[in-house]
Formats: sequence, structure tokens, C-alpha cells
Amino acid sequence: MRTRILYGVIIGIFFVLQGCSSSTKTEATKASAPTGGAPTNEIEKYRAMIADGNPADLYEAAGEDIWKKPMGPKNVSLEKCDLGMGPGVVKGAYTQLPKYFKDTNKVQDLESRLVTCMEKLQGYNSQEIIKAGFEKGKRKDVEAVAAYVVAESKGMKINTVAKHPKEKEMLALGEKSFFYQGGPMDFSCASCHAENGKRIRLQDLPNITEQKGAALGWGYWPAYRVSSGNFWTMQRRLNDCYRQQRFPEPIYISDDTIAVSLYMAVKANGGTMNAPGLKR
Ligand code: HEC
Repeated sequence: MRTRILYGVIIGIFFVLQGCSSSTKTEATKASAPTGGAPTNEIEKYRAMIADGNPADLYEAAGEDIWKKPMGPKNVSLEKCDLGMGPGVVKGAYTQLPKYFKDTNKVQDLESRLVTCMEKLQGYNSQEIIKAGFEKGKRKDVEAVAAYVVAESKGMKINTVAKHPKEKEMLALGEKSFFYQGGPMDFSCASCHAENGKRIRLQDLPNITEQKGAALGWGYWPAYRVSSGNFWTMQRRLNDCYRQQRFPEPIYISDDTIAVSLYMAVKANGGTMNAPGLKR
């Protein structure tokens, strides 16, 4: 009796294993079979596969902790930081940025605003953050907090408008900068981002001069970048595009980077904020 049960169990296990291995085989055949689709479709599939577990989540969680923890020479948290909707309001704040801030008398994007808060509330030296590289020193905290703040606007409508005179001035500068050709290749942002259907290294380059394309470009950054295995803020995205443009490296949170961001955000108005995104 016992042996029969044992056999039964063994045979059962055998069938289970068989089942598993044959289903893995079909999966594998499916995955490796040529689909004939465009490479971007494959990238889309890959994105969908890992979208449930966007590693940006880890940065968001770390950012939330940093936001709430008393830190810096003054040992206070960032919870009183005003991102444009009043001190401490995080929900939806990113949908309106960049915008004009009275206390600094400047148009600021998320990162420059966070640096302002770290300086004014916590006593950090903003120049040190500006001079540090990406993922270095306190800049790393700015990046994590950016992930947290942006995630609190996920799924909401982009609502960046240029009403204040300083915003209008900045928008005009951003537009000029977007179309400004220069450098050894005589490139402007528009050289790569003003046509429909343009593609470089399998990446669809959105036409940022139109609302739809601007919403795709602006609305998916910051993002976790699979190819480099880390989280990139919009400032970092731009830094890399200035490089592709063969322009000198822009100073972190400098006016020109904010102006170009404002141009993209205003163009994207009405689109959906999907960041933190997941990119190649
Ligand atoms: C030489 C071509 C080139 C120039 C010039 C260029 N970019 Fe890009 N840009 C790219 C490429 C390529 C990507 C996709 C990057 C990747 O995933 O590797 C990209 C991505 C982007 C994205 C994200 C788009 C998305 O859907 O993820 C934005 C936004 C952007 N660029 C803005 C700009 C701005 C603003 C400028 C001017 C300061 C600029 N780019 C100049 C090539 C360029």
C-alpha cells in the first residue's frame, strides 16, 4: 500500500515536472520566435513586462524617508518645503512645475526648488549640491526626493502654464534655446526632437514641438533607465541631451535648463504625468 502511494507520488511529481518543462519550452519558443514586429514593439513588450516592478519605486521610498527626516546643519525635515502649492503640499505639485516662486524671485523646476529648500530650511550649501555630480553627495538625496515628489503626481494632468511675467520671459528663453543651433554639428534640440517618427538607437524621439510629443517626453521623466541601471531626473536627461548636441555641459539647475524644461512642460500641458517612467 505504502509503496503504491509512493509510486503514485513519484509519478505525480514526474507529470508535474513534465508539465512545467514543456510549458517552459513553449514559452521559450514563443519568446525566441521572430515576431516580425518593429524593435520598438519589443521594447514596449519588455516595458510592459517589468512595469509592475519599476525599480524607481525604491528611489521613491528612499525619497519619502529623506523628505520626512530631520537633517542638515539645522536638523529639520523638508516637510515645510513649498513646491508651489503651499508648504508641505506634495500631491500634484509636480504637475505645475516649473513655475515662478516669489521668495527666490525665480522660475524654478523641481530640482532647483528642492535645492532651495535644502538650503533655506536645512542649512545645506546649494553650491556644493550644484557642483557635485549626479548621484554624488547631497545631489543623490535631491534625486531620490524628486522621485518621491513626482510619483505623487502620477496619473494627473500636466498643468504648467506661463502666466507670470517671469514665466513668460523664461518660456521665450526656453523656446529660443530649443531652436538654437550651435556646436560642431550645428545641432539644436529641434534637430532631433522636432519631427514625427524620428528614431535614434531604437528610441522613438518624440516631436517635442507638438503637444502629443511634448507630453510623451516631459510626462515620462524622471525615469528609471534600464540601460544604465539607475534613476535619472529631468536635469540628468537634459544634461545627456546637451552632450548629444555636442554642447558644453550645462550647469546643474541653471536658467537655461529650467527654461527648456518650462518650454517642454507648457507644450505638454493637458497631457498625463506618467513619471517616474521606465526607459531604455
Ligand atoms: C543629437 C540628437 C539629440 C539632440 C540634439 C537632443 N536630443 Fe534629446 N534625446 C536624444 C535621444 C537619442 C534620446 C533618447 C535617449 C535614450 O534613451 O538614449 C533623447 C531623449 C530626450 C527626451 C526624453 C524623451 C523620451 O521620450 O524619453 C527629452 C525630453 C529630450 N531628449 C529633450 C531634449 C532637449 C530639450 C534637447 C536640447 C537641449 C535635446 N533633447 C537635444 C537625442 C537628442
